Amino acid sequence: MSRVAVFPGSFDPMTNAHLDVARRAASLFDQLVVGVLNNPRKSPLFSVEERIAQITAAVAEFGGNVEVAGFDGLTVDFARSHEAGFIVRGLRAVSDFEAELQMAHTNRKLRPEVDTVFLMSALDYGYLSSSLAKEVAQFGGEIDGMVPPSVADALRLRFAASK
Ligand code: PNS
Repeated sequence: MSRVAVFPGSFDPMTNAHLDVARRAASLFDQLVVGVLNNPRKSPLFSVEERIAQITAAVAEFGGNVEVAGFDGLTVDFARSHEAGFIVRGLRAVSDFEAELQMAHTNRKLRPEVDTVFLMSALDYGYLSSSLAKEVAQFGGEIDGMVPPSVADALRLRFAASK
C-alpha cells in the first residue's frame, strides 16, 4: 500500500525550514503533496500560482515523488482528494506546539483516519519564518540562506518593483 502525505501551509513564501521538512517527508512517504492554501482572509505577497511555481522549482531535486497543488477549504478534504493518510507539519520550537496540537486534534476530529506527523525543523532554521524572510527582503537584507533560490529571486523582484 502506498503511503501518501500532504504538507499543507500558506508558504507565502516557502522558507528553507519548510523545504527541509518537505525533503525529509518526501523520503518518509511514497508520495508527498505540498498543499498551498488559498486563504481569502489573508492578503498574501504571492499568488497561489506564484507560490506553486516557486515550490515546484525548489522540490525539483527531490526525486520525483513530490507534487505541489493549491487548495481551498479544509486540509482534511485536501488530504482526502489525494487519498492521503497523513498530514505533515514542521515544529520549530515549543511556541509552535500549542497551535499545532489544536490543529492536529481538529483534523483528527474531522477525519480520524488521517494522522498528523510532526517533524522537528532543522536546528539551523529554528528561527526562520515566512514573515521574517519577507521583512529582511523588503529592506534589502541577505536572504540567500533563508529561502530557496526560486523564492529569493521572486522576493528580490517583488521588492525591487515596489521601490
Ligand atoms: O503555513 P501555515 O499558515 O501555518 O498553515 C496553516 C494551515 C494552512 C495548515 C491551516 O491554516 C489549515 O489547515 N487551513 C485549512 C483550513 C482547515 O483545515 N482548518 C481546520 C484545521 S485547523
